[in-house]
Amino acid sequence: MSTFTAPKGIPEYFPPESAAFLAVRDTLSDAARRAGYGYIELPLFEDTVLYARGVGESTDVVSKEMYTFADRGGRSVTLRPEGTAGVIRSVIENGLDRGQLPVKLHYGGAFFRYERPQAGRYRQLQQVGVEAIGVDDPALDAEVIAIADEGYRRLGLTGFRIELTSLGDSTCRPAYRAKLQEFLRGLPLDEATRQRAELNPLRVLDDKRPEVRELVADAPLMVDHLSAESKEHYEQVKEHLRALGVAFAENPMMVRGLDYYTKTTFEFVHDGLGAQSGIGGGGRYDGLMAELGGQEFSGVGFGLGVDRTLLACEAEGLTVGDRTRCDVYCVPLGEAAKARLVAAAGGLRRAGVRVDLAYGGKGLKGAMKAADRSGARYALVLGERDLESGAAQLKELTTGEQRSVPLDSLVEVVTEAVAR
Ligand code: HAM
Repeated sequence: MSTFTAPKGIPEYFPPESAAFLAVRDTLSDAARRAGYGYIELPLFEDTVLYARGVGESTDVVSKEMYTFADRGGRSVTLRPEGTAGVIRSVIENGLDRGQLPVKLHYGGAFFRYERPQAGRYRQLQQVGVEAIGVDDPALDAEVIAIADEGYRRLGLTGFRIELTSLGDSTCRPAYRAKLQEFLRGLPLDEATRQRAELNPLRVLDDKRPEVRELVADAPLMVDHLSAESKEHYEQVKEHLRALGVAFAENPMMVRGLDYYTKTTFEFVHDGLGAQSGIGGGGRYDGLMAELGGQEFSGVGFGLGVDRTLLACEAEGLTVGDRTRCDVYCVPLGEAAKARLVAAAGGLRRAGVRVDLAYGGKGLKGAMKAADRSGARYALVLGERDLESGAAQLKELTTGEQRSVPLDSLVEVVTEAVAR
């Protein structure tokens, strides 16, 4: 019979490592919750046009990487490649922008990009994201960056840096773009790069090939051509970051893979990951909401890669998350003892204790091995003779210390022992 394999380029997380995945995801979301971001659950797929228009036709994400298909009603839908466009669509559709501003939302889950799979680059990737919509305040940009910084630090990560720049706004970017294009036209670039320069000149600055890097080293930079308003905004973001104690490095060559960015953009880069070093990124997107049919509202947010953050934790040798499955592992010896312990396990779980049991009639030796493997702190052993004497044996697995626990106060005594 044929067997099945998961689709290519999709990471799966199972015990015990999945505990680390959960810890990364929850720690990053917690950082957002602590700053007052409410949770939004978004559709996994949307109208294809939403992403084409929101993310930008000329981006790799839209032109090469989308999972697009016709549903049974003949509508073109796309598995979400990112979260921002969906959040803005929902804010407009549900009128969330008519309430208190800024609208602060966080989200998480799987996103889909048909990329060439490699270490740290997946076709199904997990993000935790935030968006703050409707207030154009540089302190909000700094808050968003500080939340991500705090999330990573809480995990214990230290080997990352924040790269920051400003991409200007609609008053200064077109002129800069023309200037950059003019500069690029004067360079001996290959045909494909020349075409890219015409379509999306900023992306040429991000070319990884050393010969192209050398050629563009003297290219005009957006940060030197900012409008007075964008410049002031950028200065204030930096000031707020300093006040927050968040260290950053300016990278005026930074290019993000999505078209909606204006003003502040940033990336969190980890040095232990090889080519796929971006563990998170984001920025401001002041024209997106109007572009998607809503009010002229600004917005700022980030998407943090949970998979890559997990790889970063591994690269730094951090153990995150609780790999133990339970606190107490019940070891019944014989059917009567089993009936008693199955009931006790229920009582302990109701009291909030994590409990597992040796099912399938394991002998004492096999059951104790399973107890060790479960990561439990205690084994709760009940044999025929214990039943007669009315007491179970509670064994602390690391020390081997053992004591008798009366069956009629089992739940209370064990709960207390676990809490200690
Ligand atoms: P992004 O930079 O495209 O931004 O993705 C954010 C993060 O998701 C990346 O830094 C990376 O850690 C992770 N990521 C992206 N693609 C992959 C992949 N193929 N495999 C593994 N991890 C990946 C956005 O998606 C924006 N929506 C962020 C944002 C929110 N900007 C403003 N608000």
